[in-house]
Amino acid sequence: MGSAVITCSAPATARDIKAGCGARGGGAGGGGEDFTIKFSHVVTPDTPKGKAAEKFKELVEKKSDGKIKVEIYPNSELYGDEDELQALQSGSVQMLAPASAKFTTIAPQLQVLDLPFIFDSVEDIPELVSPDSDVGKAIYQNKKLASKNVKVVGLWDNGLKQLSSNDEMREPDDLTGLKFRIQPSDVLRSQFQTWGASSTPLAFAEVYNALQQGVVDGQENPYSNIESQNMQTVQKHITESNHGYIGYVLVINTEFFDKLPDDLKDAVTESADEASTYNREIAAKLNEEAKKKIEKGGTTKLIKLSDEERQVFKDAVVPSVWEKHADVIGQDVIDELLKKQG
Ligand code: LMR
Repeated sequence: MGSAVITCSAPATARDIKAGCGARGGGAGGGGEDFTIKFSHVVTPDTPKGKAAEKFKELVEKKSDGKIKVEIYPNSELYGDEDELQALQSGSVQMLAPASAKFTTIAPQLQVLDLPFIFDSVEDIPELVSPDSDVGKAIYQNKKLASKNVKVVGLWDNGLKQLSSNDEMREPDDLTGLKFRIQPSDVLRSQFQTWGASSTPLAFAEVYNALQQGVVDGQENPYSNIESQNMQTVQKHITESNHGYIGYVLVINTEFFDKLPDDLKDAVTESADEASTYNREIAAKLNEEAKKKIEKGGTTKLIKLSDEERQVFKDAVVPSVWEKHADVIGQDVIDELLKKQG
């Protein structure tokens, strides 16, 4: 340690941890464990990502015989969208599971998962994103991530996104003039632009307030994210468009991982795999439950698009938005995905 000593009596909050109190960052801990993984994320603990993080903790602590301890910091309480990737790269936290769009700056190819209508149904997801598929390779073997001290150990789902706003939206024309909050992705910007809307990137933690105060008119997310943030209380309509995907790239600080003894490396990768399976099992169910809660709450009208209506939204952006970003995503990946569209 350097000469500056931070005195911390019983670090109690995420803020204390961020200030350096109680942070061990992978060294010897005081509670018998050898390594501590601080796992930060931006959603609530009862969402598909929140629950998968808890499952990962349970598994890795068991498989490592307590040598690895996991501390989970949900709800952007330790780091949020704006600084969590920096915190991972510098080793202030050891694991994250940001949505693919959050990697746009450091690994733009990951925007592949933001392509509108990349999946028609959640059942198509596992095959299309398996580690050996074209999309999977673009993520698991991503050279930009590897060069930035970021190792991919899994891909978790939330599910398909729906559109929300105070206006009724049945066709792209209904979006004209509305401003949507987006994740920081050029693909998502193009998607809304093509539908005639404008967009602005905002951190997830700011979305509820932005909707409530009318800074933006609408947003897109799966039901579980909408309901767990109470967005339905400030949005009169949700269009069940299933127009896009939220996939989480489970990442670990490479330097931290490489320092682990082999048996603990195995404990981490096996736990990540098993937590991924668990995540897939629960994601659709949690979204369905969230949808029911929103319907029951009565604050918001749910509009289910017919196949024909959904096709109009799709035809506006596929393949034009896909082709527009082929230089970043890879023409080969786009061609392969287009082939799968039939
Ligand atoms: C969002 O920013 O809308 C989502 O990526 C949040 C999340 O992590 O599910």
